[in-house]
Amino acid sequence: MVREREGRPWVEMRGIHKWFGGVHALKGVDFSVFPGEVVGLIGDNGAGKSTLIKILSGVFPPDKGEILIEGRRVRFRSPKDAKEHGIETVYQELALVDNLDVPANIFLGREPALVGGRGLLALLHKGQMVREARALLERLKVNIGDLNALAGELSGGQRQTVAIARALYTEPRLLIMDEPTAALAVQEARKVLGLVRNLKEKDIGVVFISHTLQEVFAVADRIVVLRKGEKVGDFPADELTIDEAVKLMVGGE
Ligand SMILES: Nc1ncnc2c1ncn2[C@@H]1O[C@H](COP(=O)(O)OP(=O)(O)OP(=O)(O)O)[C@@H](O)[C@H]1O
Ligand SMILES: [Mg+2]
Repeated sequence: MVREREGRPWVEMRGIHKWFGGVHALKGVDFSVFPGEVVGLIGDNGAGKSTLIKILSGVFPPDKGEILIEGRRVRFRSPKDAKEHGIETVYQELALVDNLDVPANIFLGREPALVGGRGLLALLHKGQMVREARALLERLKVNIGDLNALAGELSGGQRQTVAIARALYTEPRLLIMDEPTAALAVQEARKVLGLVRNLKEKDIGVVFISHTLQEVFAVADRIVVLRKGEKVGDFPADELTIDEAVKLMVGGE
């Protein structure tokens, strides 16, 4: 029951299979994201959500199936490959460095010339980093407060925001978020959801994974349901209820 959208998906996964030893984690899954579309990816524990997005972000290759970006077949050998194609991922377990401040975390590993350096040059670079970090956070319409704060001093929501800002710095076309709110209090989760909504305006596609279906329904344009490695639902969000989604997730009637 897939309603066709106008135009072409930005990214398309076709017939994806993945085995882990004897476990058939993905059984021929088709998955696509259109430009500026937020796709909620839901399913019970072990349904294959993380495996699917890890294939999409270059963590591991599919055993069968193909990935197309703007209609062209791509093969990712690493997450770096996927990033170079415009796919960024934010995981629940964030890779922030606690004893660095916000700008340093945003630019970490991207601009060695900026982060490194000594003396006056380093100071100039530091100033530029702070300005760029501030501009980026403003574009994202988020307020981190004190940019000099160390990542270790930030709240969960602020940390998540910095991680998202970091992922968006390279202006990706697709942002994958695997349970970005799982460790957050309700208020903080709400801020992250607001950020996801803002991304839509920038034509960035989003894959949003969460066990909190209320959240998924609050941000997603389309909902894809996985059950035991198979896609069992693909609906415009306004044509599916949470109850129906739960039934698809667990199976039965
Ligand atoms: N690296 C791995 N090695 C072996 N088995 C794995 C690996 N990653 C996932 N699996 C198995 O593949 C299946 C799908 O797991 P996956 O992590 O994709 O599920 P999920 O939908 O993300 O679940 P959750 O909601 O718990 O995060 C499970 O049976 C899991 O045990
Ligand atoms: Mg998972």
